Amino acid sequence: MATINDEIARRRTFAIISHPDAGKTTLTEKLLLYGGAIHIAGAVKSNKIKKTATSDWMEIEKQRGISVATSVMGFNYGDYKINILDTPGHQDFAEDTYRTLTAVDSVIIVVDVAKGVEQQTRKLMEVCRMRNTPVIIFVNKLDREGRDPFDILDELEAELHIGVRPLSWPINIGAKFKGVYNIYEHSLDLFTPDKQKVSERVEIDDINDPRIDKAVGEADAAKLREDLELIEGVYPEFDVQSYLDARIAPVFFGSALNTFGVKELLDCFVKIAPAPKPVDAVERRVEPDETGFSGFVFKIHANMDPNHRSCIAFVKICSGKFERNASYKQVRTGKSLKFSAPTAFMAQKKSIVDEAWPGDIVGIPDTGNFKIGDTLTSGEEIHFKGLPSFSPEMFKYIENSDPMKSKQLEKGIQQLMDEGVAQLFVNQFNGRKIIGTVGQLQFEVIQYRLEHEYGAQCRWEPLSLYKACWIESDDDEALANFKRRKHQFMAVDRDGHDVFLADSGYVLQMARTDFPSIRFHFTSEF
Ligand code: G4P
Repeated sequence: MATINDEIARRRTFAIISHPDAGKTTLTEKLLLYGGAIHIAGAVKSNKIKKTATSDWMEIEKQRGISVATSVMGFNYGDYKINILDTPGHQDFAEDTYRTLTAVDSVIIVVDVAKGVEQQTRKLMEVCRMRNTPVIIFVNKLDREGRDPFDILDELEAELHIGVRPLSWPINIGAKFKGVYNIYEHSLDLFTPDKQKVSERVEIDDINDPRIDKAVGEADAAKLREDLELIEGVYPEFDVQSYLDARIAPVFFGSALNTFGVKELLDCFVKIAPAPKPVDAVERRVEPDETGFSGFVFKIHANMDPNHRSCIAFVKICSGKFERNASYKQVRTGKSLKFSAPTAFMAQKKSIVDEAWPGDIVGIPDTGNFKIGDTLTSGEEIHFKGLPSFSPEMFKYIENSDPMKSKQLEKGIQQLMDEGVAQLFVNQFNGRKIIGTVGQLQFEVIQYRLEHEYGAQCRWEPLSLYKACWIESDDDEALANFKRRKHQFMAVDRDGHDVFLADSGYVLQMARTDFPSIRFHFTSEF
């Protein structure tokens, strides 16, 4: 019988992240294809469309052709159990993506070979860096004209602030793209454009094998040998530990659409990517193989049916074995809860599970009991850290447009904030509620959902702010003095923490100069 340690060792829980359009969805789909979780390419996207069509409020995203939903895809690959956490592509839902990154043990970043590092890639990498998440980079769309692979490597290093080490190498790109040499396994894959089939491998002994010349031609074989020599000269030998320590990102090249270079990536990934790691709680470090169960809610998925205000809370299991119908403690409320219908996400199907292990994600049907960040345990009083709020980019006052429905509005705002749709700040000076978001789209989603799910009407009033800053100081007097001086701009977040609403970069700069003992943070976790 498999022990908890066997179950942990075979799990790989990760997210694929990218700037929109780099090929995240396509790569996800190809990984599922290899895992036998789907049988034809195109299934993920068509599924996406189906899901959208069944829900009313998601009409919003359908119209814009983006995916709001974050879901989990589990499948077996060889001896490994793989859990891919999908993240919304649209940048207005970046906060959702950040939270999902707290539930993964590693990340694959997809970069378009023609576009290189884009804005969203940079931002997501910052979040990975905050948490020391190991990163593998997949440079995609090699079948199209793009940049020189060496230039891309330089750019990755400079822009993402991480060392890189190529583990596969392309033979030409664009129309002349012939294949990739697998540096990690010393093998060669030739490219035949095909969206459905997996590619074949050419057996070679080493880089000097004449079969390479035969397969790709002498000139390209010579160029490949030259490139590899340069790589060996410039980049240090690949060291798994430096990847696990998040100092070096292995880089693979390929074409997700053509299923090319994907197997190299996947085979190396399962070998080197970390199994579930210990997780820090406020009280102590929790090891995955402890017998006591623990986990946290990193995502609450709004209901698909506006008539039933039910949600799914996604719980990442950190330690122990999760069992259906066992009693678990919701640490925030002290309540004991039993889950009769926890679901897991295997091969694109959602089904009820009896047990789950560290690294797995279970979906728990919920009617408003859970908040983002909630810890569940077998009984111990621990609180997992690390679901930071980031300063929103846009702010608006939310006002009630229907005085008869103020209770509904209150409740709606509360629940949507618990779900993590946006952030609520209450101005301490005038008591007005401020909603902070990453993008305009979230305001529309909130307004729509308040109306359709809670029967409440709201309107937005403009508010021009630069940043929300969480403040702290060792000097209580200075802090009190600051709050007095800036009382019009002081607010509290949903946890009651003090937040300074800076209306311009200049004001923030002045505040920093005038109050050197106060530390200003752009995230709630410092
Ligand atoms: P995303 O999730 O990161 O936003 O990207 P997605 O996979 O949806 O891919 C964005 C576009 O890039 C898609 O084209 C997709 O087919 C294309 N693409 C992905 N990988 C490759 C590749 O290796 N080579 C080439 N040439 N194209 C690639 P689309 O026209 O926007 O969508 P579709 O109609 O093809 O589905």
